[in-house]
Amino acid sequence: MSTQPIDATTTSAWQALTDHATTLTPDLRAWFADDPGRAERLTLRVADLHVDLSKNLVTDDTLALLRQLAGEVGVADRLAAMLRGDHINVTEDRAVLHTALRRPRGVQPALVVDGQDVDHDVHEVLEKVYAFAEQVRSGAWTGVTGRRVETVVNIGIGGSDLGPVMAYEALRPSVQEGLELRFVSNIDPTDIAEKTKDLDPETTLFIVASKTFGTLETLTNARLARDWLWEMLGTPDDEDARREAVAKHFVAVSTALDKVAAFGIDPANAFGFWDWVGGRYSVDSAIGTSLAIAIGPDGFRDFLAGFHAVDEHVATAPLEQNVPVLMGLLNVWYVNFLGAHTHAVLPYAQYLHRFPAYLQQLTMESNGKSVRWDGSPVTTQTGEVFWGEPGTNGQHAFYQLIHQGTRLIPADFIAVANPAHPLKDGDTDVHSLFLANFFAQTKALAFGKTADEVRAEGTAEDIVPARVFSGNRPTTSILAPALTPSVLGQLIALYEHITFVEGVVWGIDSFDQWGVELGKKLALEIAPALTGDDAALEAQDASTRSLIETYLRLRG
Ligand code: F6P
Repeated sequence: MSTQPIDATTTSAWQALTDHATTLTPDLRAWFADDPGRAERLTLRVADLHVDLSKNLVTDDTLALLRQLAGEVGVADRLAAMLRGDHINVTEDRAVLHTALRRPRGVQPALVVDGQDVDHDVHEVLEKVYAFAEQVRSGAWTGVTGRRVETVVNIGIGGSDLGPVMAYEALRPSVQEGLELRFVSNIDPTDIAEKTKDLDPETTLFIVASKTFGTLETLTNARLARDWLWEMLGTPDDEDARREAVAKHFVAVSTALDKVAAFGIDPANAFGFWDWVGGRYSVDSAIGTSLAIAIGPDGFRDFLAGFHAVDEHVATAPLEQNVPVLMGLLNVWYVNFLGAHTHAVLPYAQYLHRFPAYLQQLTMESNGKSVRWDGSPVTTQTGEVFWGEPGTNGQHAFYQLIHQGTRLIPADFIAVANPAHPLKDGDTDVHSLFLANFFAQTKALAFGKTADEVRAEGTAEDIVPARVFSGNRPTTSILAPALTPSVLGQLIALYEHITFVEGVVWGIDSFDQWGVELGKKLALEIAPALTGDDAALEAQDASTRSLIETYLRLRG
């Protein structure tokens, strides 16, 4: 296929959507009243997820035009190119094959990319991860003093942290008793100091997770962890004992196994993956080793099956029912035609409390771009800001702005029907009380409250305007049976594909992340200025130099 992105703004669908947006007056009250089939028609299913799109600011005409846009920019072709392993990550000349990480064993035809049997490679690593996870879980893997592992500390950042920590938090009820995971990511020494301060070195296993094994934060924290281990085990000067300690208490996950060996970790205790897995798409690769230990191989298999079910759906469902494609197109509608800048993700499931943070990397590192994959400038806005917090906490914090502010904020509400903790308050099922809020919020946002309805409650006239809710604030509701590993995999894959669809419309490479490089390079150049290198200090601009001087003065 052509490497030229199609400029979406030159398509006839784009022009029609522009006209449509200027003439459309959203009126969800009327749309629902006049069209009894709206909710049913716009409620779709993907795997176990029940997805209600009906409270979005779209008519059937809008959706038809959005589907036309998907056709004109070639979403289906690009998806097929991704799935078969074309190098659609153009700026890094790489295939993009996170979908291969969850293909079941034995699917035919086998996926061979750039001469490699990808299915074989994926399952070989998975088996190694599972065998290791079983050893840790059963107690067969022991530390230097023969004690079993009780705490696994994953050291990684970005995609080598956000996925595993989010999934661990989400799946806590499935975690083996007696095992705890901790996550160290920040180079702020506070992070590792706090996470290790009450740990017993004899029962601690560190997993150094880094795709490149060159990330400053992760390698610094890995060295600090290694020093802590040696110190705590009382082996700082004994070379053999130090080697033995690392062999028993450190494993690694990386694509750079030579660098793993240079750090002192036995490559036999390293789990590989490939350059065609982007960091933010890697939780279902060996980067999920900590998770596989926590929930076990069966749980991890279930997790992968959830991803795969959504991959199958996106690849085969007709456009009218293709949930990830439609949700991606809806996001384009809000960003490019209705002027939205942000998108809220609001899980009504406390265990999903890290899901919005996870999605921030997935969506914003993917689609925060100003040039297209051929290097030409984008012709329209890209990448909205994703944010969110679990409900009901968010209701008592920022929902005011969503309900009555001046900005359009599309929001995804996510809930599960069956709670992990079915507690009762007297006779009241607390989960039902909780989910009453999930239903109430999307209803309030959609249908609002008119001035007459406010007046009818006896409100004084001068207060009426402040108590009116305009409604027509768009939401998508996602309801799953329970927060199982499979459902979590489904949710992640859903957002991966939504992100992909948006990127295709905008013509951008959603799989590189050059925007994080400059700051990293400057930090390395600035570091000497903080430790007495006057030339490095002099080389700084006036503002940065003054800030550094102030810092040095404050440090004393
Ligand atoms: O922030 C840039 C980035 O490259 C992310 O894409 C990645 O997830 C993270 O750094 C960590 O990289 P690595 O796994 O190579 O340590």
